[in-house]
Amino acid sequence: MCGIVGYLGEQEAFPIIIKGLKRLEYRGYDSAGIALMNGSLSVYKKQGKVSDLEEFMGDANVKSTVGIGHTRWATHGEPNDTNAHPHFSADRKLVMIHNGIIENYAVLKQKLILRGHEFISDTDTEVFIHFIEQIQIDNQCELEEAVRIALTEVIGAYAIIVISAENPKQLIAARKSSPLVIGVGRNSQEFFLASDATPIIEYTQDVVYLNDHEIAVIKPNSLQIKDIGNKPTTPYVTHLEMELESIEKGGFDSFMLKEIHEQPNSVHDCMRGRLNAETGHLQLGGINKYLEHLLNSQRIIMLGCGTSWHAGLVAEYIFEELARIPVEVEYASEFRYRNPIVHAKDSFIAISQSGETADTLAAIELAKKEGGTIFGVCNVVGSSIARTTHEGAYTHAGPEIGVASTKAFTAQVTVLTMMALMIGRKRGNISDTQFSELLYELETIPAKIEKILQLNDHIKDIASEMQHAENALYLGRGYNFPVALEGALKLKEISYIHAEGYPAAEMKHGPIALIDEAMPVLFIAIKDNSYEKIVSNIQEVKARKGRVIAIVTEGDDLIPKMADYVIEVPATYDVLTPLLTVIPFQLLSYHIAIMRGCNVDQPRNLAKSVTVE
Ligand code: AGP
Ligand code: GLU
Repeated sequence: MCGIVGYLGEQEAFPIIIKGLKRLEYRGYDSAGIALMNGSLSVYKKQGKVSDLEEFMGDANVKSTVGIGHTRWATHGEPNDTNAHPHFSADRKLVMIHNGIIENYAVLKQKLILRGHEFISDTDTEVFIHFIEQIQIDNQCELEEAVRIALTEVIGAYAIIVISAENPKQLIAARKSSPLVIGVGRNSQEFFLASDATPIIEYTQDVVYLNDHEIAVIKPNSLQIKDIGNKPTTPYVTHLEMELESIEKGGFDSFMLKEIHEQPNSVHDCMRGRLNAETGHLQLGGINKYLEHLLNSQRIIMLGCGTSWHAGLVAEYIFEELARIPVEVEYASEFRYRNPIVHAKDSFIAISQSGETADTLAAIELAKKEGGTIFGVCNVVGSSIARTTHEGAYTHAGPEIGVASTKAFTAQVTVLTMMALMIGRKRGNISDTQFSELLYELETIPAKIEKILQLNDHIKDIASEMQHAENALYLGRGYNFPVALEGALKLKEISYIHAEGYPAAEMKHGPIALIDEAMPVLFIAIKDNSYEKIVSNIQEVKARKGRVIAIVTEGDDLIPKMADYVIEVPATYDVLTPLLTVIPFQLLSYHIAIMRGCNVDQPRNLAKSVTVE
């Protein structure tokens, strides 16, 4: 999710807000907008960068000491001028900026339409501000009370700022699950609001971190905070000592490490509004018109590159297990030059974090030309692949800045798992009990990832043993064979150590010749249906003096006696294990790369999005 900025004080608001939006640029975004209060509300918004917004505003020299600004990372509605924030209420007296996702926006929108509301954008945010407006009308209450009531009814994540033309010297802010920081200026004469402290720190180091379910009402020389139960709380002022760059990375040393640690949240966000085990709800909003085609596919072809191709390979095992539809996985870079045979009942799933990978785009065009129906699984809303495919589901992982894909992979696998579950359920391949058990287990995955992340220091110790290796072998079976490939890719692309992923059973067909005491062999050896076979593979490697690092299921008391190092992951269903077993490999490659002095966020020779052939 992107960035919000607000200012109320005695200085000119425009330059503070624009500079603040540029400070949030590292968070990635697709459009930007600003609202300034100068007797009336002046709103400017534009698809593209903050500099495009500035150019669009030209010499609109709006004098104002109160304003808000937004950089959008679209979740509902393509990136364009209309969907950019701020959004108006029906009477255009209120404007709102919002970071997050309102899960029940569709229900609220229908109710508001029945009350005569008309919407010009496709966003959940516009519904949100109309909802607040309607509550204020129905209850004849102050704006802050209307905001509070609305927050008791909306479901989802939000960091919002609302301003009203009828109360020009006031900002109302609130948050739940999306961050919001309030900078307290000199003598409380001015207040700076932002998604993180980067736009604030040059003006003041005294900040108040708003907590979930809290509402802040800001007026000249006044900051009042209360919770959505109307209980006032005393603002707790923190004096920041962090440097700008450190704040951008959330206090982590790199974007990659920050994004690895974001995975409990990003996997949760991926399921937000789509999956609810208690009610048995599972629905991907972006797959409607072509759902029947997908359900009746005679074959599903996954298209992707790199890590996204690995996600497709995991999906092959998951779809064939849960949906019982034959799956093929194609490197997009190969498929695009083939003369493929495509049947009318084929479905394609194009997987891409950036949504701009040239090879994947070209493969989609070829599949479409041959009559295929294409579904997209992308992270960037409104990206070329998202717009080229017939339908699809976004991963909602938030901007992934590090070149090495981490949270995008687990988000892709989560979406693909939900797709396979939905198809399997509708095709009658999955019993009610199995369906419910898998939904409940999926909801536990974020906490299980969090538990693995706590092993960071142990994994760092293992990294120090591996850092001088010249080669490495990653071995896995079944669902975890693609994770072995992904682990090898992570090591290769950021530490420049040559690594290969292989199906563990393939060892005896060649790779075992490579084993000696200098070769670290990394096994995914969890207690799944191939456990006994993996134990034999580990014995084969140890017999040849290979060094074994094994990812095992918590409580395994056999493999720790055989392997040189083990990393324990929580137990889960076989079909969900890739969401957990990939985490240690991400951290291991990160620490090895750091120990080797590599630039983990921008590895040599690589680009975040390969938009060329
Ligand atoms: C993975 O860590 C790499 N960054 C790379 O393999 C990447 O997955 C590949 O280029 C595909 O990118 P996409 O998901 O944006 O299409
Ligand atoms: N859900 C809102 C939208 O799609 C806000 C997205 C964001 O956090 O930037 O416009």
